[in-house]
Amino acid sequence: MRTQVGIVGAGPAGLMLSHLLSLSGISSTVVEDRSRSYCENRVRAGLMENWVARMLIETGVGERLKREAMVHDGIFLAFDNEVHKLDFTELVDKHVYIYDQKEVVTDLIAHRLAHGGTILFEVSETSVHDFGGSGGKPTIRFKHGGKAETIECEFIAGCDGFHGVSRPSLPPGSWTGYDRVYPFAWLGILSESPPPEKELIYAYHDRGFALFSMRGPDLSRLYLQVSPDEEIDQWSDDRIWAELTTRLQGVRPLKQGKILQKGITPMRSYVAEPMQSGRLFLAGDAAHIVPPTGAKGMNLAMADVRVLARALEGFYRKHETAALEAYSKTVLKRVWKGQRFSWWMTQMLHRVPGGEYGAFDSKRQIAELDYVTSSRAASVSLAENYAGLPME
Ligand code: PHB
Repeated sequence: MRTQVGIVGAGPAGLMLSHLLSLSGISSTVVEDRSRSYCENRVRAGLMENWVARMLIETGVGERLKREAMVHDGIFLAFDNEVHKLDFTELVDKHVYIYDQKEVVTDLIAHRLAHGGTILFEVSETSVHDFGGSGGKPTIRFKHGGKAETIECEFIAGCDGFHGVSRPSLPPGSWTGYDRVYPFAWLGILSESPPPEKELIYAYHDRGFALFSMRGPDLSRLYLQVSPDEEIDQWSDDRIWAELTTRLQGVRPLKQGKILQKGITPMRSYVAEPMQSGRLFLAGDAAHIVPPTGAKGMNLAMADVRVLARALEGFYRKHETAALEAYSKTVLKRVWKGQRFSWWMTQMLHRVPGGEYGAFDSKRQIAELDYVTSSRAASVSLAENYAGLPME
């Protein structure tokens, strides 16, 4: 098999890259170790920055998003038994969209397959080779239907997530991983119940953080800060509802419903730098992950591939290599701002269990929340980061 760009991973980054490249007449092949239905049904974060929604619409993959996404003007912050709205429309003239990552993936897969794209699902033993530059031809090797296959390409895009093969394939010593692990995790549920507000509520409570999000008028996505070694079996439905109700601190009534899904997600910040070596380019979670508090994961992945697609377009149209060489440097500026914002939201809203400075931190966190909801300068700063920093 031959293609111009070999893409490892059919998540939002890999699929969007393949889509953007095809609009510029550049061929690509995507390989993915999971099945199509697994990719289309994996419930992930659901918040989309303004420019990402616009990019999907402007590039012809936003029809269902336009019909089904929920448009939010802002978020609510609950603390000290009160709730405060941050109105992004008024503060920065932007809104955000609720549209689960799995819907983006579903739409992109359908569009690529309808437009002659190649996505090979359920491959195994994937590995990347000969991307070093001089002479060798980048190749992706894998097994598909039990048969050993090779894709020869000109560039490889590693969009295979945090546990993928691409990042560990960067030459040892050529890159550094910057890591921060948090002493808590999120227990998330999907519930057949109306959300307590029409927009998201981020709640700070002495017992820990809680987030009240949604996927529809009668479908809630709710999260609780828990300890990272928590067993999901220890959390009965009753216990989850009681804890959510307490942490919502009476600012809204909480309706209960059937819990359709529950799971625990660890919290980590991570950046691999640089995000490229020779003709291998990492994008999305393969290079960086954020704690979900800032809702930045998919948005940063989309920013990476927007930049990478343009750089590849410059290479194929005009033989320009400068943008490709600068890829990592260009995207890392946004990545680190996303890291900073995600870390900042996380430290403001979570309780550190048994922390030495617990009593001091609790007062400081309340002061920070009070500041963010009462100072226009601070509100604008949160809003512009949350709704998405400018993207040309
Ligand atoms: C979600 O709806 O899954 C969601 C929204 C905002 C976040 C994290 C998760 O910050």
